[in-house]
Amino acid sequence: MNILHLTFSSRGELSESRKLSKKIVDILVRLNPNAELIARGLGDGTLPHIDAEYASMQHSNDAGQPGTGSSARSDQLIEELERADVIVIGTPMHNLSAPSSLKAWIDHVVRARRTFTMTSAGKKGMLHDRPVYIAVASGGRFSGANAHQPDFLTSYLKTILASIGLCDVRFFTIEGTGGRAESVELSRRIANQELRRHFNSLGLKHACENLD
Ligand SMILES: Cc1cc2nc3c(=O)[nH]c(=O)nc-3n(C[C@H](O)[C@H](O)[C@H](O)COP(=O)(O)O)c2cc1C
Repeated sequence: MNILHLTFSSRGELSESRKLSKKIVDILVRLNPNAELIARGLGDGTLPHIDAEYASMQHSNDAGQPGTGSSARSDQLIEELERADVIVIGTPMHNLSAPSSLKAWIDHVVRARRTFTMTSAGKKGMLHDRPVYIAVASGGRFSGANAHQPDFLTSYLKTILASIGLCDVRFFTIEGTGGRAESVELSRRIANQELRRHFNSLGLKHACENLD
């Protein structure tokens, strides 16, 4: 099994989305001890925005110059996606939606004639489906009775990943990281419960032993 772990927080070790996504990776590795793991921390801005040539390629039938600039980077990121049997993403909510680092990654992997084709009904995904686990951290709450802001992040990620063929997407969240330490701890425990519930439902109860 190949696991691709992508994180998009700029907060390094403090990142709740990174920690939660790492818990998911650890569970998957416990279930598949021989799994190969590719881990990429992209929250520090190391992934540049796409360049002019790539942008032109996206809206023309011109295949462009392969192997240069953004298209080379896009090739590499798409190949990583294709090789993965399971994808784990850790991301913050930024301004109600995806952080710009995650948006930059999306711009590289949602690629015309490579990961989707355009049909009269819209984009049709070209990647085969596989599980995608997404761990989200937010300073405030965006779901449940105490939500006080709209959520353009999870619906956007669901839609854009489905457009390239990734429809088996599951979210786990740590909400309210800007609150008191006790409430952040409670959010972590709730996320652990959700992980247990999910893996129990797959008949993999043992995978979540030692979850703290
Ligand atoms: C630029 C920026 C924008 C943010 N926008 C939101 C927001 O719209 N809603 C929210 O609940 N939290 C927002 N936050 C707070 C982060 O979501 C919160 O700090 C979260 O824990 C970051 O994820 P991390 O712990 O994985 O680094 C924002 C933080 C930053 C730096």
